[in-house]
Amino acid sequence: MDLRIKTFEEYKEKYALSVAQPEQFWGEIADTFQWNKPYDKVCEWEFDSPDIKWFANGKLNITENCLDRHLERRGNKLALIWEPNDTKERFVRWTYKELYERVCEFANALKAQGIAKGDRVIIYMPMIPEATVAMLACARIGAIHSVVFAGFSATAIADRINDAQAKAVITADGLNRGAKQVPLKRVVDEALQHCTSIETVIVFNCVDWSPNMVDGRDIWWHDAVKGMDKHCPAEQMDSEDMLFILYTSGSTGKPKGVVHTCGGYMVYAAYSFQNVFQYQESDIYWCTADVGWITGHTYIVYGPLLSGATTMMFEGVPTYPDAGRFWQVCDKHGVNIFYTAPTAIRALMAYGDDHVLSYSLDSLRVLGTVGEPINEEAWRWYHLHVGKGKCPIVDTWWQTETGGIMISGLGDLSPQRPAHAGYPLPGVQPVLLDQEGKEILENGVEGYLCIKHPWPSILRTTYGDHERCKITYFSHYKNHYFTGDGAKRDENGMYRIIGRVDDVINVSGHRFGTAEIENAINENKHVIESAVVGYPHDIKGQGIYAYVVCETMPEDQNEARAEIIETVVEQIGKIAKPEKIQFVSGLPKTRSGKIMRRILRKVAEGEADKLGDVSTLLDPDVVDEIVKGAL
Ligand code: WT7
Repeated sequence: MDLRIKTFEEYKEKYALSVAQPEQFWGEIADTFQWNKPYDKVCEWEFDSPDIKWFANGKLNITENCLDRHLERRGNKLALIWEPNDTKERFVRWTYKELYERVCEFANALKAQGIAKGDRVIIYMPMIPEATVAMLACARIGAIHSVVFAGFSATAIADRINDAQAKAVITADGLNRGAKQVPLKRVVDEALQHCTSIETVIVFNCVDWSPNMVDGRDIWWHDAVKGMDKHCPAEQMDSEDMLFILYTSGSTGKPKGVVHTCGGYMVYAAYSFQNVFQYQESDIYWCTADVGWITGHTYIVYGPLLSGATTMMFEGVPTYPDAGRFWQVCDKHGVNIFYTAPTAIRALMAYGDDHVLSYSLDSLRVLGTVGEPINEEAWRWYHLHVGKGKCPIVDTWWQTETGGIMISGLGDLSPQRPAHAGYPLPGVQPVLLDQEGKEILENGVEGYLCIKHPWPSILRTTYGDHERCKITYFSHYKNHYFTGDGAKRDENGMYRIIGRVDDVINVSGHRFGTAEIENAINENKHVIESAVVGYPHDIKGQGIYAYVVCETMPEDQNEARAEIIETVVEQIGKIAKPEKIQFVSGLPKTRSGKIMRRILRKVAEGEADKLGDVSTLLDPDVVDEIVKGAL
């Protein structure tokens, strides 16, 4: 079960093998898992359709691999540590045996509610251990979970429920976040006014509120598990059965449901977890992501538990009760591996060094980042003050669609260069393509980042719309998976991710399509049209800059801004609030009516002097107005 590469030399050998003999390479790794019926073939694929199968006809249940198989040797080992938002509240520690029993008990409760293999279940939960239990319980019975980040609005939940035609929602009365509380169940109730597929809502009592409980539909978690057996036979899943759907934004207006399947996802989650973090049996591992994102799926829940690790979950925020919380928690629990986002590092940096300098942090061995490029300044601060100059930083590049980390250092094995993700993991074959789709072979170049061979956790489809999966990822360049990112490869072959080349904005590591935010803004009754671009933001990486055309130029612009923000919060959630809203009388368009985003981007970036040729525009005068009114 130890899947770890132990030297950089070994990495190079394994990498070469994984390219020359991918089936042999992945077959050996897959064989360390519990399959209840062996698979027939390691990998069958073609990217055109796409039609990708890993470990075809193998039967397994990922929770048997996460839980049951550890019981004998690790039954009393800690599986999960939970650190609450409130420093005065007691933390939770569950052994593998306890987690196993809670998952089985809740899995039986789901069955008793009529939920069965193949049903879709929405999980809209706080960062509490029950979120993990809910995910694993679904997987136990073969129900397909779709976790929706608890910051999304009622409209966003309703869209996801309807797209997935989900049968049940698992939620809580409310959640704690810093000094605030959020009424989750109330948001779900609002969403359900626009949904017909939901038959059951299971509500965990987290904050002791008394939400409205709808008779015959809503049931408390504690009532649902009453009298349930603490053992539950694991549903036998085909390797290619769906494990989960996770919605993510793309360049079109509507988020799409990325589908991951059981066998390949399992193998890659464990393999990448152990190698990237150079995980060792006694480590305490902490990933600060939310389970609502892919990072939480793969590197809080599945990767660590498949590896028999102790994984920590944190309910709160990095700045509550003060900006030293992360470091206090690291010292308190003796964290060895710490994985967070550049935006969190930059935010904490801004509070000054005192908050970090008062903690010893000497348990830390490996640090990681994910979600966006990490700038050199933040990298150095993280390295010096958190890692005390002695911990490697793994800058992990990957995506919701890739299921696991693709390009990254491997603990202290790999050479490091700030702001560079580095080398691909074994089994990952990245290439840089030029405008024409030709592979650029040299080093010291820049291009569109694509992958030319499948890896086990590649997305299989977008839920309910396979054509969209094909168009988005497999049609730009024949026989390649297109990532949507641009990248550089340095003289030594290390990759540096530059950022998205499509209409996707990355705000604090959260992904939004410009069209998605524009659609939300356009819901406001005064708005005629809008255009959204990203601009560099010191803390968030990118901020959202919206150009808005109203029926009449608003008299009170601040009031109009507040109203538009309110609309976006209703349509998507607080995380999608535009930072800047500029009211304009028109948008720069070509004669064919296409918005010239390049111009809007330059203005938002404060580079209005570099607009280039604007003479082809329908109405060049609007550009002057936009430049003059820039925020
Ligand atoms: C996009 C994927 C993967 C979990 C978190 C985000 C950007 C991700 C890095 C990195 C530079 C990164 C890319 C990618 N990204 N990691 N280490 N360096 N950029 O998942 O929401 O699916 O977003 O995040 O642009 O395409 P996601």
